[in-house]
Amino acid sequence: MKAVQISSYGDYDQLQLVDLPQPVPEAGQVLVKMMVAAINPLDHHTRLGIIPWARKPPMILGSEGVGVIASEGSDLPLGTVVMFQHAYFLPRGGTWQEYVLTPRSLVVPLPDAVNYMEAAALRTAYDTAYMGLVYQGHLQPGQVVFVPGVGSSVGNAVIQLGKIVGAAHVITTAGSNAKAERARELGYKDVIDLTQESIRDGIARLTEKNGVDLVIDCLGGDITAQSLEVLKPGGTLVLMGTSAGHQSHVNLLHIITKSLKIVGHMTAFVPQEVMDEAFQTYFKLWTEGQIHPLIDRTFPIEQVVEAQRYQVEGRPFGKVLLTFK
Ligand SMILES: NC(=O)c1ccc[n+]([C@@H]2O[C@H](COP(=O)([O-])OP(=O)(O)OC[C@H]3O[C@@H](n4cnc5c(N)ncnc54)[C@H](OP(=O)(O)O)[C@@H]3O)[C@@H](O)[C@H]2O)c1
Repeated sequence: MKAVQISSYGDYDQLQLVDLPQPVPEAGQVLVKMMVAAINPLDHHTRLGIIPWARKPPMILGSEGVGVIASEGSDLPLGTVVMFQHAYFLPRGGTWQEYVLTPRSLVVPLPDAVNYMEAAALRTAYDTAYMGLVYQGHLQPGQVVFVPGVGSSVGNAVIQLGKIVGAAHVITTAGSNAKAERARELGYKDVIDLTQESIRDGIARLTEKNGVDLVIDCLGGDITAQSLEVLKPGGTLVLMGTSAGHQSHVNLLHIITKSLKIVGHMTAFVPQEVMDEAFQTYFKLWTEGQIHPLIDRTFPIEQVVEAQRYQVEGRPFGKVLLTFK
């Protein structure tokens, strides 16, 4: 079977398409023949070797996806379409391989009517959004949320979930005119087009100069510094990602004089019961059609290098997926 493996840390050229023996399930395990797997920034950071708790090479990347049951002996009949609930913890590496071996407990059968491409793009984005809004952000009804980066999958999930869990407004930014236009077509009203307006001016316009209660910051870099400026006194910034830079030059006075809270977040350290509560919440919303993960583009698994480069450098609008024959 084909698998994307890295043998050492490094650039995109470490991604090697290799042939490995098809795994054989033991008691309590099932084999999943992959249909589609998602690409997440975590895969890039793992390949670079900057995630201290990540698996070590040689390893197979990929932490979510959808496939069909390809082994007998469990309660799931052959051909059942499943997604992974906690794919990072699979016994033989990630989801960028044709056949994935998994404990039965880590797969969730999908209802017939759902879009399985969306299922492959669901878990990481909405887990992270839920943790930012609810678990770390303690969002209160009627509060105003700011999530920069409408192109980010997590950003999109925060916009969609934010209103459902009680936000009065969820304000976002777009890095280009085209993205601002697309965001409006999706019905996102509170969009700051950064080619036309600064974060400071946009937030002042959209909040009658009141500022925001909660920032879900997936971008880092200078966006973090600007976000601290637009928080209300007593507000919270949940720092979840650094897609725009690992360093930020912040004015510490904003933190002190407004008594702000800055919370770092890593989903891998969230207690299991909170993860389960989050999954049940957004899985139900998704099957009811209340939320929709966005998919930017799909690539065949053979084009994994181009695909990962596009995810990291192409400023996508939503998730980038890998498909299997
Ligand atoms: N802490 C956790 O547990 C956790 C879990 C999941 C994800 N994350 C992090 O959350 C962040 C978001 O992940 P994601 O999957 O939604 O996708 P992503 O690939 O990081 O999002 C890409 C989007 O970020 C925006 N962006 C703004 N400035 C950028 C820059 N300088 N370079 C690249 N992109 C820039 C772009 O949107 P615009 O063009 O619209 O600005 C782009 O489309 C990542 O940093 C990821 O590592 C953290």
